[in-house]
Amino acid sequence: MKKLLIRSASVATVMSLLTACGIEEHSKDVEFPDNVSVILESEAPEVQEEFSVVTATSLKALAPGLNIGVAVPAGGNSNSILNSPDSKTVIQQYFSQLSAENIMKQTSLQPEQGTFFYDDADALVQYAKDNSLTVHGHVLVWHSQIADWMQDFEGNEAQWITMMEEHATQVATHFEEAGDNDTVTSWDVVNEAFMENGEYRGAKTTTDSADASVWYENIGEKFIPLAFKAARAADPDADLYYNDYNLIWNSDKLGAVIDMVEAMQADGVPIDGVGFQSHISVNSPDISTIKAQFQKVVDIRPKIKLKITELDVRMNNDNNTDFTTLTAARAEEQKDYYHDIVEAYLDIVPEDQRGGITVWGIVDGDSWLQNFPAPTVEWPLLFNDDFTPKPALQGFANALEEADFTPAPETPPFFNTDFETDLDSWGPRGDATVTLDTTEAHSGNNSALVLGRTANWQGISKSVVGLFTAGESYNVSAWVKLSDDASTVTPDMKLTLEINHGAGDGTTEYLEMTTPVTVSAGDWVELTGTYAHTITTVANSANLYVEGNEITVDFYVDDISITPSSPAVEEPVVPAELIADGDFEDGIGSWGPRGDATVTLETTEAHAGNNSALVVGRTANWQGISKSVVGLFTASESYNVSAWVKLSDDASTVTPSMKLTLEINHGEGDGTTEYLEMTTPVTVAAGDWVELTGTYTHTITTVANSANLYVEGSEITVDFYVDDISVKLVQ
Ligand code: XIL
Repeated sequence: MKKLLIRSASVATVMSLLTACGIEEHSKDVEFPDNVSVILESEAPEVQEEFSVVTATSLKALAPGLNIGVAVPAGGNSNSILNSPDSKTVIQQYFSQLSAENIMKQTSLQPEQGTFFYDDADALVQYAKDNSLTVHGHVLVWHSQIADWMQDFEGNEAQWITMMEEHATQVATHFEEAGDNDTVTSWDVVNEAFMENGEYRGAKTTTDSADASVWYENIGEKFIPLAFKAARAADPDADLYYNDYNLIWNSDKLGAVIDMVEAMQADGVPIDGVGFQSHISVNSPDISTIKAQFQKVVDIRPKIKLKITELDVRMNNDNNTDFTTLTAARAEEQKDYYHDIVEAYLDIVPEDQRGGITVWGIVDGDSWLQNFPAPTVEWPLLFNDDFTPKPALQGFANALEEADFTPAPETPPFFNTDFETDLDSWGPRGDATVTLDTTEAHSGNNSALVLGRTANWQGISKSVVGLFTAGESYNVSAWVKLSDDASTVTPDMKLTLEINHGAGDGTTEYLEMTTPVTVSAGDWVELTGTYAHTITTVANSANLYVEGNEITVDFYVDDISITPSSPAVEEPVVPAELIADGDFEDGIGSWGPRGDATVTLETTEAHAGNNSALVVGRTANWQGISKSVVGLFTASESYNVSAWVKLSDDASTVTPSMKLTLEINHGEGDGTTEYLEMTTPVTVAAGDWVELTGTYTHTITTVANSANLYVEGSEITVDFYVDDISVKLVQ
């Protein structure tokens, strides 16, 4: 006998089948006579009825060091996060970075020519700063969302350049803060400059207005490097990104972006990363495509960062708007896809190249996709409209949890008093009395209570001789709360350093360690500030103390902490390549024959890439391949010089001594001609590629009449290949 359990979802269907077969219903457990050959295993699709439970309580906490961002509405937008406590709760709990969804675009920041409007963006940046979030600036130069005056600007190329640079410079300068106070830590400098076929937007191969760009049309492709240079000059330490959509699957478009990045790097134009917007549909593109596209950017040398800047995952795609409800099963697909994208990013992008992952909005209902490309219903984000997390969030969190992050190094507190065990050598200042209080605390169980003051400067104090080092900066924080919950007196409170320094009696200075804050009855209030210690003499005495200008109030103090501001991390400077055409990948460039030699582009031999230059038919040692380099070198600078050579005859027994030489004629009129070795001569034998290297210091202070860089060799019978000729300034 065969015994099958029939699933309840399909009982009715099976029963009618059984009846048709002459079998009567007895129970859901049906005994089948041996002669019944119908296969009755229910194949009703497994429908997931319940949305899976979300347990993740953070994203940022799972990914130390990785920016986990979210784009947010602010300013006049009715959903501004600044008016939405729910939005703020979600942001502070899950994310470490914000992007402005609209209010940092050109039309918002420069609505009229020369009139910049920063109020909204400043409020957003201040919110970020107050909550230890960074901001990814979006966007300096874009063809879309620009003010009418900019769109209709009339001027020649130079005027367009000035107008564009003016905007980028003003905006990047406005948000730049020196050192590690920076809140805006990166910028989308240029957005969406390419079309799907890899041509520049505005290249006029189509008549579609969506393919227009006033920047390309009026300035040409150089608008991009010009914008990056302006951004770098205004904000030397922000990461500068080129940002675009569909890079996550479109190889033509990504290929064009990579070519542009490499050309910019070769020309010494600052670019730190590529932003993949990543507005995609569930399960499309597939993960292997996404990984392959990520890998292409990861492989760029010098290395740059890759940031997912605008992630959202539609449930419908452009050709299909069938889904009008988000079922549990579909939410599960979205969860898996979010998981797999985050996992792919962490798999492929090494830690030092990760710019982070930003989702384009908080709750589904606020997503721009509700109206793009046409009004519809969509669920592309991580939170439901009531701010509860969706399964998609759990998918994102699981991928973070499964990955290994290098934990951030623990910096032990430099100075910290939490009053948990005792007063920690804090005591009264003046007539005040200080006691340990076990009923009130900012954190933990205890605080210090300050009573009986008879002057403003009285309070709670501790000796800190020797704590501060000249030239260092410190972040200072202390928490206070008035002891009388009904107090109508509102003192200005602060942490002060009384320091006596210099020889003998010295001078006594009173330095504000935190900005004064007006404290009213109610909750704990933080006093904060940054203190730079500029005193170079040893202190005779130094006391840190909390004071307040109303002597009738008693107050609690807790969690007094001082941390050295971490030194600005020096970004390794990548020296720019000064010879743009030394790899022969785009042809022979401005290289040519020297003497009787013939120089041709060679596409079958290469040190790197596909091409090299072939030098044949030399009739003297000094002949070879040459390029004019008038003006390349600056007096008293040093340069690292390198070139690769290979003999063309694999059986050659002749071994020339080869080098790169600079023939330079300088001084007044005809001047003198000098022949300077740029690389040490190397004896090259048949076989593989050989590097010629050297460091060259330019000691000539007069302008050159002519200057030629050339590769030569001591044996005139050998022909040879040359590749990757490089000159870089020693920084
Ligand atoms: C969108 C915003 O989300 C919408 O609110 C606005 O109406 C249009 O712009 N690529 C970008 C973003 O770089 O700036 C766009 O943001 C979405 C596509």
